[in-house]
Amino acid sequence: MSRLIRLTAIALALAVLAGSAVLWLRPGGLSGAPRRAAGIATPGGVQVGGPFTLVDDTDKPVTEASWPGHWLLIYFGYTFCPDVCPTELQTIATALDALGPQAAQVVPIFITIDPERDTPELMAGYVKLFDDRLIGLTGTPQQIAAVARAYRVYYAKVTPKESTTYLMDHSSFIYLMGPDGTLRMLFDPATSAQDIAGAIRKRLSAAS
Ligand code: NI
Repeated sequence: MSRLIRLTAIALALAVLAGSAVLWLRPGGLSGAPRRAAGIATPGGVQVGGPFTLVDDTDKPVTEASWPGHWLLIYFGYTFCPDVCPTELQTIATALDALGPQAAQVVPIFITIDPERDTPELMAGYVKLFDDRLIGLTGTPQQIAAVARAYRVYYAKVTPKESTTYLMDHSSFIYLMGPDGTLRMLFDPATSAQDIAGAIRKRLSAAS
């Protein structure tokens, strides 16, 4: 990854972050906003979200339209992640528990940014460690690059000195997408499971 691309990705992450702060500060969020085909424009003019084609953890092809009528709670990471990913997936599992029966309206999805190592089989075993409802998605490096670009996810391979294996450096946001495919909420790693559940519950009841 060239230095320029890396800097651009960081700039996008910051723009997304600025957008999330505004979403947080505006009560009611985007519920009154006009519907769009894909994603929303953050104050930085950045579109977030959009169509994707990937493979689920049972080796079946899926797209963003595979769960009609459902909200998607999406997180990007990788199964070899030593720290942030396990914490965030546990947070998602706890938030789903806190939602109770309403969790049936939400599909939790973990998309790998390490397609070279994360096979469907590996993803299946990994996500079930956290929650039976979690769905792991992988794909070709090109498919992963496309979905990461759509969601403004930064990721890069990093090989620590004197190591034979690599780590993935990656941005860490949980995306709440509405049934219409638009971004409704971004949660950073500082957000508690209770706050995530509360924000989702508010949007579910506003939509019904
Ligand atoms: Ni991670």
